Amino acid sequence: MKLKNDLLIRTALGEKVDRPPVWLMRQAGRILPQYRALRGKLSGFKELVETPHLAAEVTIQPVDELGVDAAIIFSDILVIPEAMGLTYEMVEKKGPLFPETIKSGADIDKLISGADAASHLKYVYDALETTVKELDGRVPLIGFAGAPWTILAYMVEGSGSKTFSKAKKFLYAEPALAHQLLQKITDTTIAYLKLKVKSGANLIQVFDSWAGILSPIQFRTFALPYLKQIATAIDNVPVTVFAKGAWFAYQDLEHVDCNVVGIDWNTPPMYAKTWLKTKVCQGNLDPCQLYGHPDEVRAAALKMVKEFGGKHIANLGHGVYPDTPLDNVRVFVDTIKGYSY
Ligand code: CP3
Repeated sequence: MKLKNDLLIRTALGEKVDRPPVWLMRQAGRILPQYRALRGKLSGFKELVETPHLAAEVTIQPVDELGVDAAIIFSDILVIPEAMGLTYEMVEKKGPLFPETIKSGADIDKLISGADAASHLKYVYDALETTVKELDGRVPLIGFAGAPWTILAYMVEGSGSKTFSKAKKFLYAEPALAHQLLQKITDTTIAYLKLKVKSGANLIQVFDSWAGILSPIQFRTFALPYLKQIATAIDNVPVTVFAKGAWFAYQDLEHVDCNVVGIDWNTPPMYAKTWLKTKVCQGNLDPCQLYGHPDEVRAAALKMVKEFGGKHIANLGHGVYPDTPLDNVRVFVDTIKGYSY
């Protein structure tokens, strides 16, 4: 499918562009009334994720409604543990819950991995294909997965957590088992992302949402090698790595075979640019900035764009919060679209 708006892809590939492309992490779902209306009619989050034509509808809503320069497929990072044999529930107002967690080598041995596991996710590939057809080349479609460390964190912890101390304990106490599990997740993720590209994803983003709770040595040992394997394995489309909170690892990320590095809102653009010389940066407005006065939103968006000064994909520093005023999201998007270098 030929893209009519390929600004995101050209920017990710390092080409010179007139303005930064703009989209928002977690734009599909949460903030749009259309999403909440559809979601209210269904049994739950998983029904939406697992029904391709509905997932496609939710994926396209922000393109219609906000005019962003990219769509991101509506899904979740937790479909991977499920495909490997560890099912999750999405508890209303609480978040993910794994009835079974990984505690031992025997638990890891039971998991399926690689192409076998990835073959269980046909509903995701179907959702991508439907979305590509319906988007008709209007904007690129982003496919994504969780990074192996972040996925391990949920598989061991069993739910969200402020500290993920059970998961971190697993790394310190059972390093050999941790590596076994990380490799199984990596093999599955690579097979999965290759199928996503085959189904029409124009760019792949890997979310390492819990990178920032690792020590620099733990990140180098348990996160980086697996991120590298994934980035190297994906061909034909640009790759974004978003290791949230991992400012301490930018020297390492500079050497990962990806095109774009996601920057969270704690990191000054100048700092990111200093270490990430060969990468395009994505981010990094504080999601909470969108609760401010529209004039402040506009000023902050412009300040961000100027500070990055090119080689930049405009976005937030993490996902948009569900109760963000939609008008301010529009101010953010329109400010970027009105900018020119
Ligand atoms: O970016 C997008 O809009 C695409 C869709 C998307 C979802 N989850 C839909 C979702 C993406 C890219 C994700 C990734 C994801 N999921 C991450 C990595 C990104 C990040 O934010 O750090 C993580 C850690 C998860 C795990 C997860 N899924 C949690 C912790 C929760 C509960 C809290 C929350 O975010 O609402 C989810 C649920 C989830 N995933 C929702 C949506 C729209 C809300 C569920 C609902 O509608 O009831």
